[in-house]
Amino acid sequence: MLADYQTLDPLQVRIDTHVRYSERADDVEATVIAALPLREGHCVLDVGFGTGSFLRRLGASYELTGVDTSDAALSSASGFSARWADAQDLPFEDRSFDVVTARHMLYHVPDPIRAIAEARRVLRSGGTFAAVVNIFDTTPGLFGLVSGAVSAHGIDVEFDVPVHSGNLPDMVAGVFGNVTVQQHDNALVFDSPAPVIAYAVSCLDGFGVTAEHPLRPSIVDTIATMAEQTPVLRDPKGYVIVTATR
Ligand SMILES: C[S@@+](CC[C@H](N)C(=O)[O-])C[C@H]1O[C@@H](n2cnc3c(N)ncnc32)[C@H](O)[C@@H]1O
Repeated sequence: MLADYQTLDPLQVRIDTHVRYSERADDVEATVIAALPLREGHCVLDVGFGTGSFLRRLGASYELTGVDTSDAALSSASGFSARWADAQDLPFEDRSFDVVTARHMLYHVPDPIRAIAEARRVLRSGGTFAAVVNIFDTTPGLFGLVSGAVSAHGIDVEFDVPVHSGNLPDMVAGVFGNVTVQQHDNALVFDSPAPVIAYAVSCLDGFGVTAEHPLRPSIVDTIATMAEQTPVLRDPKGYVIVTATR
């Protein structure tokens, strides 16, 4: 699965779609915050902070640090200390943080176990690690729409989500020796094709169909046609919050 965050716009489309079209109100950031044993003054590291809104929501009561490998994420970061860093090689001393989060990002990391071990290394004794990933086979309708349009253009669909609810708990338990899992099942519910098309198009980078790809305009047309002819009305989805204590 390619990680392409040259701009954060596609990520924002997906975040907005989940906020607006979830069957049950779904504020993932608030749910993660509620799962963390946060205390005033805690040092919090968010790995792969993306838009940075999670750290900004935590506010001034904490010492906030974010790392990301996307220049777009870094240049739009505000309200916390942001720096470029790979999750697999964190540029921090051992035992520097009380809480380390890795939300919807471990599936981009070539060696997720190394990233989890790095999170443990920089946690203080008693500190908490929390990772968020999707359930295996989340939003199958949207996946089928994008992969169908891409493969209809003769492009091999090499889309693999290597970290998901089925394997992350064992990875975390293997590093930390303990693990807790909270699963949140839900669905996206649409009443028209427009948001389905927008969401599907926002996923194309992950299928290797970047903004510069010569077939992209035609693939976008195919997505639109397919979404109109066979509407995706209700698409099951879910995520897990996997926590562990050092
Ligand atoms: C799907 S976005 C999630 C962003 C944010 N955590 C959220 O949940 O909204 C994945 C983020 O991880 C970042 N990322 C990908 N690989 C990374 C790595 N090896 N180390 C640090 N950040 C990485 C991307 O640049 C992107 O900002």
